Amino acid sequence: MSVKLNEKFVKNFVSSAALEAIAPEVEKALETVKNRNGAGADFLGWYKRPVDYDREEYARIKAAAEKIRKTSDVLIVIGIGGSYLGARSAIEFVNGNMHNEAGGKVSVYFSGNSISSSALSDLLRVCEGKDISLNVVSKSGTTTEPAVAFRIFRELLIKKYGEDGARERIYCTTDKQRGKLKELADKCGYETFVVPDDIGGRYSVLTAVGLLPIAAAGIDIDAMMQGAADAMNDFQAPALDNNDCLKYAAYRNLLYRDGKSTEILVSYEPSLQMYCEWWKQLYGESEGKDGKGLFPASVIFSTDLHSLGQYIQQGVRNIFETVIDIKNSNDAVKVPFDPENSDGLNFLSGMDMSEINRCAMNATLYAHNDGGVPNIVLEIPDRSAYTYGYISYFFELACAVSGYTLGVNPFDQPGFEAYKKNMFALLDKPDPSLDELKKSLRERMADN
Ligand code: PA5
Repeated sequence: MSVKLNEKFVKNFVSSAALEAIAPEVEKALETVKNRNGAGADFLGWYKRPVDYDREEYARIKAAAEKIRKTSDVLIVIGIGGSYLGARSAIEFVNGNMHNEAGGKVSVYFSGNSISSSALSDLLRVCEGKDISLNVVSKSGTTTEPAVAFRIFRELLIKKYGEDGARERIYCTTDKQRGKLKELADKCGYETFVVPDDIGGRYSVLTAVGLLPIAAAGIDIDAMMQGAADAMNDFQAPALDNNDCLKYAAYRNLLYRDGKSTEILVSYEPSLQMYCEWWKQLYGESEGKDGKGLFPASVIFSTDLHSLGQYIQQGVRNIFETVIDIKNSNDAVKVPFDPENSDGLNFLSGMDMSEINRCAMNATLYAHNDGGVPNIVLEIPDRSAYTYGYISYFFELACAVSGYTLGVNPFDQPGFEAYKKNMFALLDKPDPSLDELKKSLRERMADN
């Protein structure tokens, strides 16, 4: 098992009787996923995805990635939410958060995930004098943030390479037959990849959505798929006792019922910062509805111990932590010996930084536990592509099981369109269905 749940720092907060009592609920939730008879069952394509996917498209993804690596200094991946977080989290998880500075063949940058003109200008400056490819990812093909960024970068590529040259460098990942992006791609002859109908954005990392950018970054996607396939097999066991995925879902539901309404995902590796962002979308969008749901937050320690550590230790006792414990660090850096011991740190000389990091983790686990914060620890072996696939599948399955246990549909997101409608109304989008909203928003804005 490449994810192992260590209960030591949570079982002092949750009784074994409570765990036994919730077992039938999470076991039933897993059955609901397996039998595809729960809410949102049309969006269960991710469940068998590690083994059940279009081999022809998969080969095209690899070929496109290879072509990008041969012809480009820079790949710009344009997308927002579920259409970019998986790829970005995977690239940073495996290659580190300095992957673009580390001298890899292709630098991968992400755009279209905000409406900031400064962020866009910064990236345009990075692209000056470089050979560029574009991968625009949008299921609907109409999301404002990526659509605007795509306009800008597409125009740049056409100016730089001409229509024909740009065609060789633009890849569109979108719905297989519908939407503005699909229409444009077909019209211009851009290569397209599919966002499957039965997989929502937050569960899509192992589709073309994630796999093309990840492969272009030089990461072994076969290993990633294998990791996910192994996790899929490993967490089928129907009983909580021998299924850590069910156990994770059970603990977080029990803690929630006990008033712990915020779950903080903790990592001691800065390279997992974007992984935490991916996880936050997965759980936040899946569970936060019908007035329910744990609020998913995240920290990188020890960095954030120096900012949020105080709150976690002594603030409102409505939190628990889920710690990702990476057993093997990719790199060794030893603390040097200073003959003058001018900083008094010679007791650390010769020690690897990862040992010190591990001490920080253990120290924090005890401190936070003593401060009344339960900690679920998820042990993983390393930051390999295989492990990424494995733990991501673990979290996806646990999320589905958790959501059903909570009593929500873990696959819809009915609430998040509200801001879009308001924004279109304020931008005066020509759409008669927005007329009433335009009027009422204008009145509310005029009312001080
Ligand atoms: O997970 C989701 O459904 C969202 O985060 C979407 O991925 C995001 O809004 C982007 O949508 P689209 O891919 O249609 O541009």
